[in-house]
Parts: sequence; structure tokens; C-alpha cells
Amino acid sequence: MNRSFRHLYTPPEPLRIGSLQLSMPLILAPMAGISDLPFRTLHRRHGCELAFTEMISARSLAYGSRQTLTMLSISDTDRPVGVQLLGNDPDMLVRTLDIIHTMPFSLIDINAACPVPKVTSRGEGAGLLREDPKRIERLVGVVVRATHLPVTIKIRTGWDDDSLVAVDVARAAESAGAAAICVHGRTRMQRYGGRVNRGAIAEVKRTVNIPVIASGDAFSPRLILRTFEETGCDGVMIARGALGNPWAFQDVMQYLTTGEYSDRRSISEICSAMHDHLELCCEYYGERGGTVLFRKFFTWYAKGIKTGRQYKERVFSVTEQAAMKAVICELEQANPQVLPLYEAYDKEMLDSMPDSHGRAGSS
Ligand SMILES: Cc1cc2nc3c(=O)[nH]c(=O)nc-3n(C[C@H](O)[C@H](O)[C@H](O)COP(=O)(O)O)c2cc1C
Repeated sequence: MNRSFRHLYTPPEPLRIGSLQLSMPLILAPMAGISDLPFRTLHRRHGCELAFTEMISARSLAYGSRQTLTMLSISDTDRPVGVQLLGNDPDMLVRTLDIIHTMPFSLIDINAACPVPKVTSRGEGAGLLREDPKRIERLVGVVVRATHLPVTIKIRTGWDDDSLVAVDVARAAESAGAAAICVHGRTRMQRYGGRVNRGAIAEVKRTVNIPVIASGDAFSPRLILRTFEETGCDGVMIARGALGNPWAFQDVMQYLTTGEYSDRRSISEICSAMHDHLELCCEYYGERGGTVLFRKFFTWYAKGIKTGRQYKERVFSVTEQAAMKAVICELEQANPQVLPLYEAYDKEMLDSMPDSHGRAGSS
């Protein structure tokens, strides 16, 4: 289904983060357990430009954990890519640079957003938001001085509704030399639920002069347009909206530039993306490891298919690449009904909610 809209947002200028010039204002988010090399590669084939690694523990990296080193893998086509570091110890972060500088990363991002208790209880991730912003200023400053790469930080609006600190933290990061700031418009206590506070992101944008990237509920072209309009942000990060949807970047760009997008993929397009993704996983993790890992991605692709559920249950026990391929082929041959990619999100999050100008969401 093609949809047209009259009021389109035109991003003011291409996104520039330090020395990195981008042609689009969209970024593939860091996602633990998701944003590996196969996932990034698949999204790049469909139009993504800048992507991030999942968060990498600075401590594990500094101590040479092999598993953590594997998470840093990038390929010749996986550029530009930013590495996201998790840590609150300036020395530990600086120690990782000996490794990071040997690899072709374009950016270093510091995670001050992870809500997981195991992380925050150590004062890392969103735990940093409970500290005096001076602490973040020191942390960012130490890394900025120790690297030639642009340094960015990803934060949340605050720890909870009573401590919305994004503006203070953004100021601190900017004065320490951060090249951009990404704000997930939820508090740590909200984790991934509840409404995104676009007003808080807009306040950060009004306060700092570095680029502001918005994160939160980037599930559809219209939701992303709304985020640009209501926050004035310079870029939007796509996270859960990219799961099972490698077309997210091209759809959003098409919508921002032409006012139209396609809300539906054919079953053969979906199955072809699944085959590609499975292939990439198996190349990277080996046949068994790649197939087992791909199971969770299968469920995200299947979410958009009417009878997807019965296939989801079947793939839980599949461990061979050939068997997984056979299920995907069977799915394609069954030619089930494909659901619109974005309609349900727009209905739930947009059409019921007036925008900041009081306009109804639907066109
Ligand atoms: C499975 C999962 C893993 C995530 N891992 C990270 C991470 O490693 N680093 C990070 O900064 N944010 C992480 N996030 C948060 C996302 O980058 C993003 O900020 C958040 O999901 C809000 O965007 P959305 O509502 O559009 O999904 C993760 C989110 C999900 C769903």
C-alpha cells in the first residue's frame, strides 16, 4: 500500500558527527545480542549507512576476553561503524583504545543508557545518570583526549520521572568535547515501555550545539517523521523497528524525501531477506551456531506473516542450516498473507495522539 502525506519534514542538513559526514539522518542502533556483523551487513545491503556494534564491556575488552574481541568484528563492507563502550572507569575506557585504534571504527560511543540492573548496580550504563554530571564530563573528556575518533554518548532522559537530567548531562558531554549525543526518550525506570518523552529530547536539542540523535519508538516512517518534527533532532536511531525489517532505512528515507512508502512486502521478499540473513549468520558463526542464532530473527520476520506462528514454533528445534532453509522455502510456497509493516504501530502510537501542533495523526 502506498500512502502519501502532505506535511513532510526536511532534515535541515546532512548529519555530521565530528569528522564523519553522513548522507542520511538515520542510524542503526546498538542492540545487545542483535547488532552483530551479520545483522549490520544485512541492513547495509538494504540502505543503512551508519551502524553501531552492540555495547562492549570496556573491562572485558581491556582484560582481553576473546568473546568480547569477537564482538568487535567488522568487515570491509561494514563501514562506517561506531563501537559502543560500556564502562564508568576512565582508565579502563582508555585502555580499550589500544585495541579500538587498530580497527577501522569511525566513532566511539559511551553507553549511559543501559537499564539492566546488573549493569546499573555497578554504576555503568544508565547508572551513570545517577551521578553528578561532572562525572560524565570527566569520563567523556578523558576518552576525547585519548582518541582521534569522534566520541559520542547515548543517554536516557534520566533515572526516573523525578530525576530528568538529560539537559545537564548533555551540557556536560558537550563541554567535554562529545561530537554528538543520542537521547533515548525514556527514563531508566521505564526501560523499553511507556511513552517516549519527545519534549525532553527537544529540550536537549535547544540546549546544545552538537548534533542530537533521538531514540525511542522508531517503528515506522510516520513515527520517525513525528520524532523529527517534535524534537528538532538531527538524526533518529532505529532499534526495535529494524528487527525483521531490513527495509526500515529505505522506507523511512523514501517517506522523508517523497512522502510515500510501501507498507507491505511480498512473501518472496521476506523469505529472500531471511535466506540472506541466515546465510550471513552461518558464514559468521558456523552452520550450527548461525542457525541456532537465526531462530530468534526468524520470529521477528514471522511476526509480519499471518500464519507465521506455526512456523515460529517449528524452528525452535532446528539446528541445521539446510533444515532452516527448507522451512523458509515451505513458508514461501504456502504464500501466506503478509501483514502491513507499520500500520499497527501507527494506529497504536500515532493516530490516537495529537502532535505538538494539535494535528491528528492520520493523514
Ligand atoms: C534487544 C535490545 C538490546 C539493546 N541493546 C542496547 C545496547 O547494547 N546499547 C544501547 O545503547 N542501547 C541498546 N538498546 C536500546 C536501543 O538502542 C534503543 O535506544 C531503544 O530500543 C529505544 O528505541 P526503540 O523504542 O525504537 O526500540 C537495546 C534495545 C533492545 C530492544
